[in-house]
Amino acid sequence: MSKIADAIITEKVETLRKELHRHNYRYHVLDDPEISDAEYDRMMRELITLETEYPDLASPDSPSSRVGAAPLDKFETVEHSIPMLSLDNGFEDSDILDFDKRVKRHLDTNDTILYIAEPKMDGVAVELVYEEGQLVTASTRGDGFKGERITSNVRTIRSVPLLLQKEEGGKIPARLEVRGEIFMGLEEFGKLNDDRLNRELSPFANPRNATAGSLRQLDSKVTARRPLEIFSYGVGRITDIAPESHWETLQTLNRLGFRINPLTKPGITIEAALDYYRELDGKRHTLPYDIDGMVIKVDSLSLQQRLGEKSRSPRWAIAYKFKAIQETTRILDIGIQVGRTGALTPVAHLDPVSIDGATVSRATLHNEDEIRKKDIRIGDTVLVQRAGDVIPEVIKVIESKRTGGERVFAMPQNCPVCGAEAYRQKDEAVSRCNNINCSAQVKARIRHFASKAAFDMDGLGIKLVEQLVDKGLLTSYADIFQLEKEQVQGLERMGPKSARNLMNAIEESKTVTFDRFIYALGIRHVGENVADLLADKFETIDELSVAAPDTLEAVEGIGPEIAESIRHFFEQNENRKTVQRISDSGVKIIRKTKQEKRPLEGKVFVLTGTFEGMTRSQAKERIEAAGGKVSGSVSRNTDYLVAGESPGSKLGKAEKLGVEVMDFQSFLSVVSF
Ligand code: IVH
Repeated sequence: MSKIADAIITEKVETLRKELHRHNYRYHVLDDPEISDAEYDRMMRELITLETEYPDLASPDSPSSRVGAAPLDKFETVEHSIPMLSLDNGFEDSDILDFDKRVKRHLDTNDTILYIAEPKMDGVAVELVYEEGQLVTASTRGDGFKGERITSNVRTIRSVPLLLQKEEGGKIPARLEVRGEIFMGLEEFGKLNDDRLNRELSPFANPRNATAGSLRQLDSKVTARRPLEIFSYGVGRITDIAPESHWETLQTLNRLGFRINPLTKPGITIEAALDYYRELDGKRHTLPYDIDGMVIKVDSLSLQQRLGEKSRSPRWAIAYKFKAIQETTRILDIGIQVGRTGALTPVAHLDPVSIDGATVSRATLHNEDEIRKKDIRIGDTVLVQRAGDVIPEVIKVIESKRTGGERVFAMPQNCPVCGAEAYRQKDEAVSRCNNINCSAQVKARIRHFASKAAFDMDGLGIKLVEQLVDKGLLTSYADIFQLEKEQVQGLERMGPKSARNLMNAIEESKTVTFDRFIYALGIRHVGENVADLLADKFETIDELSVAAPDTLEAVEGIGPEIAESIRHFFEQNENRKTVQRISDSGVKIIRKTKQEKRPLEGKVFVLTGTFEGMTRSQAKERIEAAGGKVSGSVSRNTDYLVAGESPGSKLGKAEKLGVEVMDFQSFLSVVSF
């Protein structure tokens, strides 16, 4: 082909792409199309024909990539440069007012805090990474740190910009990480399921499952046929732009081409947020998509930064969940569950029922008084409610369904696991097993100790804990650190590889922040929030263990009951010994640094090679404790590469890009503060 013809084709392709991008933006973001769907389709077909005929002109940002790319064998893992956190949940007004109090307490102010409220979309969270204005990676949230690369699938979603919208005179950030929720509208979901039924395929349980299923396709051409959409609600790491509030961030995103939920309400007090929650709850059934609550965020970004985050969620936001969906089913039996504090909780065994996409076969009945009050009997037909992540509960009995064959339930006088006497304190609603060594209590305490918000020992789930306790390998959580690989290997579902992974997870968990350490002990009334307050006020576990009730009560947010419970815990010789044994096992408590002690704030590190005496995740915790971030790969945005023994190819890349390289010794001096 002649040079001239070549230039004409290239220009034609470029014009078509530019026009298609523009029409896409007008349609999906501005909701103000200029051309008909048929005209858009015609332009798209023309582009695809030209791109097929002249494959040299292919480009990943082409609007034609929305029809899907070549299928993958598997999804790769992508590390989020800033973890994607989850949200604390609130279920009633008092939870939200408490949240506001916590925010003020943490900021040490009585001033009114301004919030921004957004509908909580019930879909799938994703992160979209743009470099120099181009979409380069889209990934799922995964475990918050690492997700799956689903770029080709996400490119097919027409409300996801493939290129950022350039404003006249406006800057395009060199790097922009956008977070948002991918979802499927209700009408589209209905049509998809009708179509599946017609083709004798099983329908999706709800739009969220349909969305997740569509994004999990290895063949993006399948995803392209699914009617997915996105609303963006936040950012990860960004360069070149510095908004001052969350609202400003959202408006900037909107200008760059992202859809923002139009029901977002900025600049409101906590009371106004409660009013808005009722308004949204009232109209949620008229919306074209599912929402399961409202997210309330502190609007000012400098306040957000001062508030920081807890182990898994930020202190500056909370999700106020809508009342859950309810279903009726029958109680087949009532059993007793023994918790870590010995509480005997009656649990209804239900005829399995699907509620909001999950099968429910157990529901808590809380305690004896609740059963009496609601007059719940074995054999009753009941209304069961499931709200988000919380344990399903029985709301009420449907009396009209009684047959006369129902049986009244009596709380046992003894612990059903160890046989010890069950006692009920005068002012308490629960009965408790008196035996601190009861195996059910021991198991629950150990499981709590290893749980995600505590020591976060991946792989030490309840099934394994049960086996280890039953075999006499664990009698207290302090024993975990003495476990040996040979002991766990050979247990049910424990091959050499799982055993090795478990040992590594235990080893890695040994570097822990003070709040998690306190929470892990399982002291009654000391949940994540109280542990956080204590970690802020006390320097060491020794100092906390000898604190007098007065000293404890002087901490804002800690009342006499909590203070008494903490004192009681540390008064027990056995508990003091256990805490000492944990410290002696090489557990290292790192301080969650206060704001002024965040010397690495905003700095991005990449690690390569091995470090003597420190695992990679310990190094990561150190960096994060100092306010820095750790990323998986070297790029222009990397501030430092820490090179240990036998560094990998990242070293060469860092040198090429002029990224500062640090050896392990210099690294230690930077993170020891
Ligand atoms: S903010 C640190 N805003 O809720 C803040 N999340 O439990 C994290 N979600 O994984 C997210 N709508 O999938 C935020 N307007 C909204 C949201 C929202 C839905 C989901 C998101 C996240 C989960 C957190």
